[in-house]
Amino acid sequence: MVRLIHRPRRLRRTATLRAMVRETRLDPTNLIYPLFVCPGEGVRREVRSMPGVFNLSIDEMVKEADEARRLGVPSIIVFGLPESKDEQGTDAFAEDGITQRAIRAIKREVKDLVVLADTCLCEYTSHGHCGVIKDGDVANDPTLEVLAKTAVSQAQAGADIIAPSGMMDGMIAAIRSGLDVAGYTDIPILSYAVKYASAFYGPFREAADSAPQFGDRRSYQMDPPNIREALREAELDVEQGADMLMVKPALPYLDVIVAVRERFDLPLAAYQVSGEYAQIKAAAKMGWIDEERVMMESLIAIKRAGADLILTYFAKDVVKKL
Ligand code: PBG
Repeated sequence: MVRLIHRPRRLRRTATLRAMVRETRLDPTNLIYPLFVCPGEGVRREVRSMPGVFNLSIDEMVKEADEARRLGVPSIIVFGLPESKDEQGTDAFAEDGITQRAIRAIKREVKDLVVLADTCLCEYTSHGHCGVIKDGDVANDPTLEVLAKTAVSQAQAGADIIAPSGMMDGMIAAIRSGLDVAGYTDIPILSYAVKYASAFYGPFREAADSAPQFGDRRSYQMDPPNIREALREAELDVEQGADMLMVKPALPYLDVIVAVRERFDLPLAAYQVSGEYAQIKAAAKMGWIDEERVMMESLIAIKRAGADLILTYFAKDVVKKL
């Protein structure tokens, strides 16, 4: 007879026992649900590469946000598709901009929902870049002013958290001071501090109609092979007053989540981006994977790596499952 002292299988014998020794749990309170608002009324247009995700007019978005809140999702993040785009992205900071109107309607109609505003220009500019263009590239410092203005207008509309995603140098300092001067000292900033120039954003750019019309985002978003630089980016944002940090994408960058978690004490979010979602949906549609199990497993992996909060298009499905 084989005598083994250690038999890890002893603790895996039944579902109840496994649950007792489980180290990580997903919780509805950790979820942030991304929504895309578009012009019109009664519009609910499915995004081709993201089954289950829709462009919603404001009235439909209020319904969606309300349903999510009732199911137990505590929070949403709003992305806007404006009626018209221009060189400067003026709809991003207009008082009656699509995002501002959506936030106002949701704050009025849905109780106790934390509303994040994505603060960036790429959905609003005709060229699809995340800032002001000069000499064929995004000019950093002139963009800061526009981002600060955009954040203030989103706070004015009622946004609870400002989430800048443009990867401009100094954006947190500029937005923090803009918000403070306007009297929004208590509005926190969730910085997309570590955002890679990722091919996994493909479906989002269809959903938000925000693909760059020339070039790409590699002069401002991070180079995927780099991790020391990720810590540097996070450190700069902490110094400038970020209240929370984000790593994006999530599953292909679990090592980055681990590293940022180890180094910084701020709450950490991770964004399971459109391409991560689309991969799961597509393989499930082919009958090649079990959608629900892969969804849960990928989210628990993100949590296990150290993310406190997860932005996911699966938010409603997850809370139903939990
Ligand atoms: C805006 C922004 C993007 C995403 C979130 N905010 C697109 C981009 O940088 O091109 C991507 C989210 C996703 O893919 O789900 N800058």
